[in-house]
Amino acid sequence: MTRKEKMKYYRRRQIALVIGIVIVLGAIIAAIVLILSGDDEVEENTPSVSSESVSDDLAADKVIDNEDLRFEFAMDEITIEVDEEYKALLINETDDMNVTWESSNPSVAIADDGRIIGVSEGSCDITAKLESLGLSAEMRVYVEKGGPEIVEKDGITYVDGILIANKSYSLPSDYAPDFLPETQAAFDAMEADASALGLNLYISSGFRSYEYQSQIYNNYVARDGQAEADTYSARPGHSEHQTGLALDLNTIDMSFENTDEYEWLRDNAHKYGFIIRYPEGKEDITGYQYEPWHLRYLGEEIAQDVYESGLCLEEYLGIDSVYAE
Ligand code: DAL
Ligand code: ZN
Repeated sequence: MTRKEKMKYYRRRQIALVIGIVIVLGAIIAAIVLILSGDDEVEENTPSVSSESVSDDLAADKVIDNEDLRFEFAMDEITIEVDEEYKALLINETDDMNVTWESSNPSVAIADDGRIIGVSEGSCDITAKLESLGLSAEMRVYVEKGGPEIVEKDGITYVDGILIANKSYSLPSDYAPDFLPETQAAFDAMEADASALGLNLYISSGFRSYEYQSQIYNNYVARDGQAEADTYSARPGHSEHQTGLALDLNTIDMSFENTDEYEWLRDNAHKYGFIIRYPEGKEDITGYQYEPWHLRYLGEEIAQDVYESGLCLEEYLGIDSVYAE
């Protein structure tokens, strides 16, 4: 072999070596790429599981995911009043808005699509549920009776819509409606039914003007002193007789308590819309001594309700009867 031929031979061997190295490296890189990218295929090629266990796994995943998402009330407990509506603050970080609502005692509070409404005094639990995700949130609800609505119009006070004249709430001196027709009509119906039973009811004192009440009260103060007079006679502007809705029956003294007429009235006056306004045992609340003869017209529905409650009007409405002085 000539020198020239030898040189050619060695160059070809070098080129073949480089090509060989390149091929081997290429093969190694290709193998690595295949191994790395083949993970999914490997898993896909694992033996298949039943559709039941797949869906179980998916459901489990969903619940696990949602355990990290908040589904809860912003408040653990709330206090609302009867008839008050409260918009529940529910934190729902899931994408399921299909919330169902439930009250453990709908006679205390109801839950209507996130609105919680007080029904009566007491407590109960309100539950919000995401049925599909098996999630629920609970909140305790306390319902209180709440205060009365007190409205003053033209100097006259209405408590929950009922005109009130007592030691706390007065009437303007020029308020003079006279004896109201509804009071008269209710008395007439009551008197007629009582009469059919052989009972004799008559009005001894109906409407009294501010001026007339002043005379009566001042006479009592002169006779017994103010402290004593205040236990049985209203100061001018504070008498229910000025409302045209009150009346004194028959003898206007304690002997009336022992009559058949009173016995019947006690059980029946409410059916005609009247209450015995200053009952025995409630003197510290009404501010006046027991007056079996003094009736107040409220209308049948409210009178019935007050009668059944066993409360005097101040207790029933949640108000005081105390002079401001
Ligand atoms: N005797 C009642 C309280 C009045 O004077 O109005
Ligand atoms: Zn009276």
